[in-house]
Parts: sequence; C-alpha cells; structure tokens
Amino acid sequence: MTKKFNHILITGGAGYVGTPLTEMLLQQGYKVTILDTLRWGPQSIMHFFGNPNFTFIKGDVRSKENVTQALNGIDAIIHLAAIVGYPACRKEPELSRDINVNGTKNLVDCVNKKIPILFASTGSTYGKLIEKYCTETTPLNPLSNYAEQKVEAENIIKTNEQFVIYRFATAFGISPRMRFDLLPNDFTYKAVKEKTLIVYEKHFMRTFIHVRDMGKAFIFALENYEKMNGEVYNVGDNKMNYSKEQICLMIKEKVDYYLHFADVGHDLDQRDYMVSYDKIHNLGFHNTISMEQGIDELIKICEIINIENPYYNA
Ligand SMILES: NC(=O)c1ccc[n+]([C@@H]2O[C@H](COP(=O)([O-])OP(=O)(O)OC[C@H]3O[C@@H](n4cnc5c(N)ncnc54)[C@H](O)[C@@H]3O)[C@@H](O)[C@H]2O)c1
Repeated sequence: MTKKFNHILITGGAGYVGTPLTEMLLQQGYKVTILDTLRWGPQSIMHFFGNPNFTFIKGDVRSKENVTQALNGIDAIIHLAAIVGYPACRKEPELSRDINVNGTKNLVDCVNKKIPILFASTGSTYGKLIEKYCTETTPLNPLSNYAEQKVEAENIIKTNEQFVIYRFATAFGISPRMRFDLLPNDFTYKAVKEKTLIVYEKHFMRTFIHVRDMGKAFIFALENYEKMNGEVYNVGDNKMNYSKEQICLMIKEKVDYYLHFADVGHDLDQRDYMVSYDKIHNLGFHNTISMEQGIDELIKICEIINIENPYYNA
C-alpha cells in the first residue's frame, strides 16, 4: 500500500508516548525525525540510531531555527513536545506555559499550513464533569494549568489548515522512557515495590489507553487522514472507563498488598468522568491492549527494576 505520508516529524518523540510510536512507524517503513530537548535523557531512543530512516535533532520546539531545520522534507507532524501532567506544570508554571502554548504557536508559525499536525491533547480539558459522558462537544472546563495550556494549544492547532486533535485517556503500560506518575503504573509500582497502596477518591471514574495504542491511534490518523482532517477526537475505548477502586482490585487479583481507601486527598484536575469514544470507534479505531494485559506487563517490570525516584515527573 502506498503511503500518503512518508516522512513524519515527532516533536517530543523521545518521551513515553513518542518512543513506542517511533518504533511502530519505523517498523512500518516510515521515515521519522524526532525533535526533542531530551529532558529525560537519550536512553529511550538509542536503539533507533542505527536505522537509516531515523533522524534526531536535539532542539527546542520554541526555537524557530530548530523547528525550521526539523521540518525539512516532512509530510506530517505529530506534536507531543510538552511539560506533561498537572503536577509537573504546577511545579514549573512559566516553563510549562512557554513550551506547551508558545512552543505550539512557534510550530504552527513555522510550518507550511498544508502540512497536517496531529496533536496530543488530553481528556483533562473536560475538568469536573456535569454530564455523565463527555463527548467531543462537551464544553471544556480546564481546572489545572496543564489542562488550560492544552486548551490554548488546541486553539492554536486549529489555526493550521490541516490538523487532527486527539484528547487522550490516561496512558498506562511500558515504554522505553518509563513514567510511574500515571495512575495504573503508579498503583502497580506501589503494590509490587512498597506492598502498600493508599487511595483517595476511590469512586472517581477515569478512562485509560495503553501507550502502544496511543501510537496505533496516530498511525490510524495517518492512514485515514482524509476522513479525520479538521476534527477533534476522544481517544480511548468505551470499555476502559474504570473507577480507581476497580484498578486497585484488578492489581490485587495478581499481587498481594495492603490496600487502604482514604477519606483525605484530592486530584487537582478533579478527573471523575466517563468518556464516549463513539466518534473514533465509528471510524474503526479500538484499543487493542486491555488493562489486565497492561497490569501483567507492569508487574513483571516492577519486579526487576529499582529506580531512585519513580515519580520524577511530579
Ligand atoms: N501519557 C499520557 O497519559 C498522556 C495523555 C494525554 C496526552 N498526553 C500528551 O502526549 C504528549 C507526550 O506525553 P508523554 O507522556 O510522552 O510525556 P513525556 O514527558 O514522556 O514526553 C514529552 C517529551 O517532550 C520533550 N520536550 C519537552 N519540552 C520540549 C521542548 N521545549 N522542545 C522539544 N521537546 C521537548 C521531552 O524531552 C520529552 O521527551 C504530551 O503532549 C502530553 O500532554 C499524554
């Protein structure tokens, strides 16, 4: 099958989402350029350097010079570069705004407007939900600076002639650039390593996607671009809306640990929502990796790793 897009630029491609995505794109014969400041170091992408279809540019999405260099010969862009999650954005409010908002503006300013930008936004933009299910037309109500920055970035992306915006569920699972601040990864790590887990707001509903399914969703957009252009999609799966308690109990079926549900504690994003993924399901995209499979692989990794600060994103 001939590809509509051959050479893909991934900003922030050395991160948790970008590394498995790069792997899949290279396996499928795409050329990939990553533009990344390597906030988390180069280890996650070292194995790509032997591949002639891989190019790396150490640079900043806020720099006109770096972005212009990275755009050379590119057919489509997957924009991931960001300071990610509300704890990290709260810790570095100015830097996160500069990267997440101004960096996105710089990318859009530098690009030929006919080049598609596929953008990683988040379901956190819905904030505390009044309706039972969020759809793409549910009014946005960002409660953290991270979510606010993503809403602003979405609006900037929409000024490009060609775009697809993905509002992702919370990721889980293993990636070469590992994140243990994500809820299922965090809970599994604590259950395996610390044998204890204290959980607040246990009935809060959250929605999930495996990190490799996030990569598959981007490839799905490249393959179905004509149908998807100019739209926003919730990306996850209707079958993967779970309460925090359900995740804890799924882990408990596989790991023996002390579980306590507490009355104190608070998620700043107040994420307690169920999301409808009908729009992307109707085009044919579904998650392929279940929460149980994700927990299984997480347990195996947690048993063999020892890291100084598993929550370094926060
Ligand atoms: N993981 C999730 O659950 C999730 C959910 C929804 C949306 N997203 C979005 O997906 C994207 C990727 O998230 P992730 O989980 O891989 O995070 P990550 O922190 O692992 O990756 C972000 C990457 O961006 C790079 N980066 C940071 N600032 C940069 C800059 N100024 N210029 C160039 N590169 C820069 C970092 O070095 C890192 O490699 C983000 O935009 C995030 O908001 C993630």
